[in-house]
Amino acid sequence: MTDTPGLTQTLDQAWGLLDQAISEGRSPLRYVTLATVDGKGAPQSRIVVLRNVDRATGQLTAYTDKRSDKVGQLRQNPQVALHLWSADDLVQLRMNGTAWVTQGSAETWDAVPDPMREAYGHVPPPGSVIDRSDDWTILPDPAHFAALDITLSRIESVCLDPAGHRRANFQRADGWIGHWLSP
Ligand SMILES: Cc1cc2nc3c(=O)[nH]c(=O)nc-3n(C[C@H](O)[C@H](O)[C@H](O)COP(=O)(O)O)c2cc1C
Repeated sequence: MTDTPGLTQTLDQAWGLLDQAISEGRSPLRYVTLATVDGKGAPQSRIVVLRNVDRATGQLTAYTDKRSDKVGQLRQNPQVALHLWSADDLVQLRMNGTAWVTQGSAETWDAVPDPMREAYGHVPPPGSVIDRSDDWTILPDPAHFAALDITLSRIESVCLDPAGHRRANFQRADGWIGHWLSP
């Protein structure tokens, strides 16, 4: 008989999944959904790729184009939600935090492979209305390259374990001690 994971193991598993997202080259876990709030108070969600995970500070990093709508939204309201689903582990992570937009550093830009730099050089800027689907071009520009540094305030884990579903909520405010929730 195996022991049911406790709160500590559950939080370890959550950070393990986040680490896996950045450590395995093409892990599907790297594609997380990032939700922001727009100027009308409406939620907006999209995929971003996780680029860095730091458990010690509780921070996650993604890269984006500084001209994108999400950056404008974050400058008005830095509150974000993130979502990750691990089909292998049957675990959903729902995370909340605060995002800071910073200019991507020269060192980071140097490490971005050429094909990926294209994501930071769409002309006209991302979200612009165009007449035809191909009415845009690519001019990679480090000036458009931004890092989204997200300080997590909450991680909620839901595990659909066939032996019994488990749901736990962890908050920075109480030192990530965690509480079980009814799933
Ligand atoms: C698989 C996948 C990965 C993506 N990765 C990123 C990313 O890392 N950063 C980013 O800004 N947009 C990424 N995008 C594009 C966004 O999902 C979104 O379409 C774009 O950033 C515009 O969003 P916004 O108008 O809300 O700013 C990705 C899209 C897909 C489908």
